[in-house]
Formats: sequence, structure tokens, C-alpha cells
Amino acid sequence: MNKKCLLIYYSGTGNTKYVTLKLAPKLEQVGFDVDIYRINPLLMEEINLSKYDVVGIGYPIYGLNVPSKVHKFFKKQQFKKGQRVFIYKNSGETYRVNNSSSLVLRKIIKRKKANLTNEYHFMMPYNIHFRYDESLVKEMLTMDEKLMDILVKEIVDEIPNIKKYTFRNNFCNRVLRLMYIGGPINVSFYKVDKKKCIKCGKCVQGCQMKNIYFNKKGNIKFHHKCLMCCYCTLNCPKDAIKMGLFNSWRVNKPYNFKEIEKIELKSPIITNETKGFFKCYIETYQEINKRYKELFKE
Ligand SMILES: Cc1cc2nc3c(=O)[nH]c(=O)nc-3n(C[C@H](O)[C@H](O)[C@H](O)COP(=O)(O)O)c2cc1C
Ligand code: SF4
Ligand code: SF4
Repeated sequence: MNKKCLLIYYSGTGNTKYVTLKLAPKLEQVGFDVDIYRINPLLMEEINLSKYDVVGIGYPIYGLNVPSKVHKFFKKQQFKKGQRVFIYKNSGETYRVNNSSSLVLRKIIKRKKANLTNEYHFMMPYNIHFRYDESLVKEMLTMDEKLMDILVKEIVDEIPNIKKYTFRNNFCNRVLRLMYIGGPINVSFYKVDKKKCIKCGKCVQGCQMKNIYFNKKGNIKFHHKCLMCCYCTLNCPKDAIKMGLFNSWRVNKPYNFKEIEKIELKSPIITNETKGFFKCYIETYQEINKRYKELFKE
């Protein structure tokens, strides 16, 4: 009988969904029956984990942390004693300061007597801060594909892969947990440019928190339960939403991964000479290539 795997994920703007939907068929190819569950931040229900041999948890890093709703969701869940769990997080950059992002999740999993055996950090473009060049996104997705092969091999062969968290990273993680209250505060400063807004309702329909509504005059307004997921600012067709205190970090226009996958790269984007912000990828690519060679002898 096939082993059963459940992938549970939260995604604000679709990047974690993208990783999850790529990962699931790869796990199926090696003989897992895979179910997928997307966390609905309004529902937060308890789900039945007992029939699964392995549980994978996917989330985007927010302020060096697990998003608050992912934290709350897993507080509610009951794992089987010794149940195998792996984490597949993703974020806009791979600086080491992000390493401890799962600190609270690790504690919950341990407290609930499940067994966290593997953790992987995927690279996806920023949905906040600044927009990534599509060629770089294409290269990152190619490296992510390799990392997925590593994940699948290690899960199927039961090879643990866990990084030790350092005191420094844990400290940064704790400080930036202030993000948990940052969203609801920042949303007080969200504004819609009435001249630009075409009242298409895309933001109203897409907000997972049902935080956006049309008032009686037909203008866009916000409640105060924002997760700062950036779905509305990324997807507004007129770039009409001003993101409060973080407005200078607003990114508009979603990434079209289907089109990006078709890009043919003529030469590497990240090289040993890469300087500045993207330097972190040199080490990440090297780590992935090294592990890939070890596992697949290529
Ligand atoms: C509020 C917020 C905070 C973020 N904080 C970080 C961070 O600390 N480090 C990082 O590398 N990326 C950060 N990001 C970028 C996201 O992790 C990244 O774009 C992710 O792929 C989004 O996934 P999603 O589309 O599934 O929500 C942040 C994004 C948001 C919206
Ligand atoms: S998505 Fe943009 S244009 Fe459409 S209703 Fe919302 S703010 Fe207006
Ligand atoms: S208001 Fe915008 S940023 Fe806040 S939860 Fe809704 S879609 Fe996300």
C-alpha cells in the first residue's frame, strides 16, 4: 500500500501554492498518495492528520517568521505520536537571518510529540520590497526544482535534513515577531487612489481575510484584520492601493510563472562574481548543487 502524505500550506500571493503544486506530483511519482490542504485564515479548523504517514508544511516567511495564522493553525492540530513532519518554506531571499523562521513551529511540533525530520528553504520572488527580474526568477525556479528532487529523495529514503538554529538568528526571529501585530496596525494607513481605482472588485474578492469591502458610496475600504499578505497590492490592475507605512515596498503585478518557465536563459544570472543583495544566492545555489551531486551522483 502506498504511503500517505499531506501537504498543508498557507499562501498569500500564490508563491507557496506554486511550490506545493510542483512538489505534489514529484512525491506521487515516488509512490506517495498525496493530499493537499490550503489553510484558510478565516476558518482555522482542526483537520484529521491521523491517516497520514508524512505531513509537509509549506509557508512563506513573513518578517523572518512563520505567518501568524500558520502559527495559530498548527497550535490547533493534533499530530500522531512520532508522525514524520517536514517543512518547505519559501521567501524572497536566502540570507541566513531567515534560517530560524520555523522556531515557533518547531516548538509546536515537538510539544505535540511529532517528529520534524527535514526542513527546506525554497527561493521565490518578493511580493513586497521590490520586484524581481523574470530571468532571475526563472533561474531560481530551476534551482527550486533541484531542491524539490533533493526533498523527495530524502523523504522517501528517510534521510533527515535539519539545520541547527543559531542564537543570533533565533534572536532576530523573536524581535521581528512584532510583525504579528504589524499587519492590523499598518492597514489603518491603507488607502485607495480613487482616481485610479476602476472598482473591479478584484481586491475584495481575493482578500483571504475578507478585509476589503465597498462602502455605501461604492468606494474601497479596509477593516482591521489584515495579514499583510500583499495579495491586494500585487494584484490590483491599476496599482491603486497604497500600502500604508510600507508603501515604498509595494510590488504591483503578479508573477506569471507559466510564462517565466518558458524563458530560455542564455547565461547564468547568479555567478561567483555576483555582488550586492543577490550575493546570498551564490552560497544557496552551491549548497543545492553539492547536495544534488551527493544524492544523484551527477
Ligand atoms: C509581510 C511580508 C513579510 C515578508 N518577510 C520576508 C522576510 O522576512 N524574508 C524574506 O526573505 N522574504 C519575506 N517576504 C517575502 C515572501 O516570503 C515571499 O515573497 C513569498 O514567496 C510569498 O509567498 P506567498 O505568495 O505564498 O505568500 C515577506 C513578504 C511579506 C508579504
Ligand atoms: S483591485 Fe484595484 S482597481 Fe480593482 S477595486 Fe480594488 S483597488 Fe480598485
Ligand atoms: S487587505 Fe490586502 S494585504 Fe491585507 S489580508 Fe487582505 S489582501 Fe492581504
